[in-house]
Amino acid sequence: ADLDLQAIHDEMVAVAYQAGVMILAANPADIDTDTKLNSVDIVTETDKGVEKMVSARLSTAFPNISFMGEETYKPGMKIGPEPTFVCDPIDGTTNFVHSFPSACISLGLAVDRHPAIGVIYNPWQDLLYTAIHGKGAFLTRARGAEPQRLPLAKSPRPLEGLGNSLVAVEWGSTRDGPNFDLKVDVFRRLAGSHETGGSMVHSLRSLGSAALNIAAVAAGQLDMYWEGGCWAWDVCAGWCLLEEAGGRMAHGNPGNWDPELEARMYLAVRGAPSGQKEIVEEFWKVMGDGKLD
Ligand code: IPD
Repeated sequence: ADLDLQAIHDEMVAVAYQAGVMILAANPADIDTDTKLNSVDIVTETDKGVEKMVSARLSTAFPNISFMGEETYKPGMKIGPEPTFVCDPIDGTTNFVHSFPSACISLGLAVDRHPAIGVIYNPWQDLLYTAIHGKGAFLTRARGAEPQRLPLAKSPRPLEGLGNSLVAVEWGSTRDGPNFDLKVDVFRRLAGSHETGGSMVHSLRSLGSAALNIAAVAAGQLDMYWEGGCWAWDVCAGWCLLEEAGGRMAHGNPGNWDPELEARMYLAVRGAPSGQKEIVEEFWKVMGDGKLD
């Protein structure tokens, strides 16, 4: 049956606002110590409670749509071609725990394993990002305000190479082994001066939430965002925004222009009249022969 993407989107927005109320009312100190991979891979009672509310509400409204969420994911689960909600109840849990006001609910709908709707809501700043495939991407800065189309600039500048760009990266929760070493090398090669063999990007940023990094790229506030180690729920919603804002999602490992929702490695590039392909290839050169697992 044909999906009414607008109706699904509207319910997802209502759910995201309810999640925002829960997140702001929560106690970030309720850290769940059982489920941690290591001491920096943090889960709180709020992550679990919000996901429960989201899945209950969405499955009541749309019983035929599948659901995948970070807190109920089990290894081996895959997103199939059938319509599937993909939810990170709090993307940026580390920020949440530290009361650093950069975290959000990230709620996507995948159809045929591709993002079709994206809803991202940061309750501390009351920033709502939304997109429906084929209908554009929008930022609503305060509840009830007029949505602004993304990218925010009327005529985005061309991308003029890594040296002129502001690039988001994240440390993630892997802090040893070859993946850690490669990340550190890439950060160094991006930031270092030409004398050090680096690209001397304007600077590196970390918003601490994959979804908010991608949303900022879609808005044109960042030129790129690279991370190895993301999950489908970190990227599904943002990816829809990015495409609708003229941006491009490439694989974070060199050579793959068509990443999948479960690729784990991503390079998001903002919309621009020229330079997208070139800047991705320049980035892949920075990675050299290194590949993240
Ligand atoms: C994490 C955040 C973080 C990124 C990790 C994600 P979570 O999501 O987006 O910025 O570096 O890869 O897993 O754990 O806060 O939902």
